[in-house]
Amino acid sequence: MRPAGRFGVNAILKAVSRSINMYDGDQANLASLNGRRIAVGVCAGIASYKVCSVVSTLAQAGAEVTVAMTADAQRFVAPLVFQSLAGRPVLTSAWESANPADPQHIRAASALDAFLIAPCTMDMLAKLASGQCDDMVSLLAASIDRTKTKVLVAPSMNEAMWRQPATQRNLVTLRADGFIILEPATGWQACRAVGPGRLPEPDALVDALASSLRA
Ligand SMILES: Cc1cc2nc3c(=O)[nH]c(=O)nc-3n(C[C@H](O)[C@H](O)[C@H](O)COP(=O)(O)O)c2cc1C
Repeated sequence: MRPAGRFGVNAILKAVSRSINMYDGDQANLASLNGRRIAVGVCAGIASYKVCSVVSTLAQAGAEVTVAMTADAQRFVAPLVFQSLAGRPVLTSAWESANPADPQHIRAASALDAFLIAPCTMDMLAKLASGQCDDMVSLLAASIDRTKTKVLVAPSMNEAMWRQPATQRNLVTLRADGFIILEPATGWQACRAVGPGRLPEPDALVDALASSLRA
């Protein structure tokens, strides 16, 4: 009989039960998310599938969740998935606002308690570090006053991309600019490499958000 290893029955059952019930962490932490207004910015990383669980857990905890996606992120996960999980429209374009006098990114940014960017691509790190804002995620980030609203960035990428001097430089800049950088995990990567750059598991991202709101 095949042993229950990484891809064995136990692992599959655990993954299925996580996808239904999910959060396995500190319930008091989770309770602190009730009624909070949280945005989740999704970029075009392979780990975007994990963020579906994050959004669902936040919604189940009573948070009002707004998801913003880059154009390339929509190649990985359809906005409809996030819309269904969050129970709210997904921001995919700055140009869809019904009222030009009330730009949606300004309105959304001013109403937030926290913004989590996950997965944050190497590309998005560079954009945030240089102040570019030509997509819905970077535009939302650019519209947030970080002295009032925490912006958490969860980078996720191949280990060679993570080690690039440009990536490391951008991380230094972002920390100095007041972004909260969540360290990636080390391990198996979808590109068959093993190393630093894995997106932390959904519970860890939820815990980081909750802790930032309690701080
Ligand atoms: C299959 C595939 C997986 C990718 N995974 C990642 C990733 O995990 N992290 C990353 O930084 N870039 C990754 N990329 C590259 C980005 O998708 C690419 O740089 C994209 O233009 C970034 O778009 P965004 O930053 O606007 O979301 C991947 C590309 C492909 C084709």
